[in-house]
Amino acid sequence: MEIKSAEFVMSNSDVGKCPKEPIPEYAFIGRSNVGKSSLINMLTQRKGLAKTSGRPGKTQLINHFKINNNWFLVDLPGYGYARVSKSMKNTFQKFITQYFEKRQQLVSAFVLIDIRHEPQKIDLEFMQWMGEHQIPFSIIFTKADKLKPGAIQRHVKEYESKLLEDAWEEMPNYFITSSSNFTGRDQLLKYIEDINNS
Ligand code: GTP
Ligand code: MG
Repeated sequence: MEIKSAEFVMSNSDVGKCPKEPIPEYAFIGRSNVGKSSLINMLTQRKGLAKTSGRPGKTQLINHFKINNNWFLVDLPGYGYARVSKSMKNTFQKFITQYFEKRQQLVSAFVLIDIRHEPQKIDLEFMQWMGEHQIPFSIIFTKADKLKPGAIQRHVKEYESKLLEDAWEEMPNYFITSSSNFTGRDQLLKYIEDINNS
């Protein structure tokens, strides 16, 4: 898919106030600093469209971006960031869970996971929660530029074993990406395009 336009629409913390247009929507979620906002910039090839930072906790609201005038990409705050206060964490958690439970337009979520690390409990628990709430998602492994291909495959396999242990019947659909060198861009855009056209 060619990205002809990508524009910021709005930020808010209330799912009830998100854009009303009934067009397909895809949301990026994952730990703080995993690269959600960077991936939005990479996909749209617009540096600075979504705000990024080397310090975790940058994105703090639900951010809607309208792509090609006919679908939304949503940037969400990260989970698992230890340095925000407990009450902030609860607030984040609440509007993220409300977003996933209530957003009718959501076609699929993407759970972003930093490929460099061993399977993390918080990510496995989050995917479990998505499964229990029957929210469709794919996995996006990020920062693939940081590892050699062998290590990437090993880490994917480790996630697969953990998910099967957690009673998933199969490994969810997944992508390997890097916002630094555009790995995975074509595959991700094709995946979204195919769903939008189906
Ligand atoms: P929060 O908004 O805090 O939840 O973080 P986020 O998930 O949106 O992460 P963000 O996109 O702000 O990126 C965090 C850091 O990771 C930044 O320093 C990025 O430059 C870096 N980063 C993101 N993607 C990649 C990648 O593919 N490769 C490398 N090497 N660095 C990346
Ligand atoms: Mg962000």
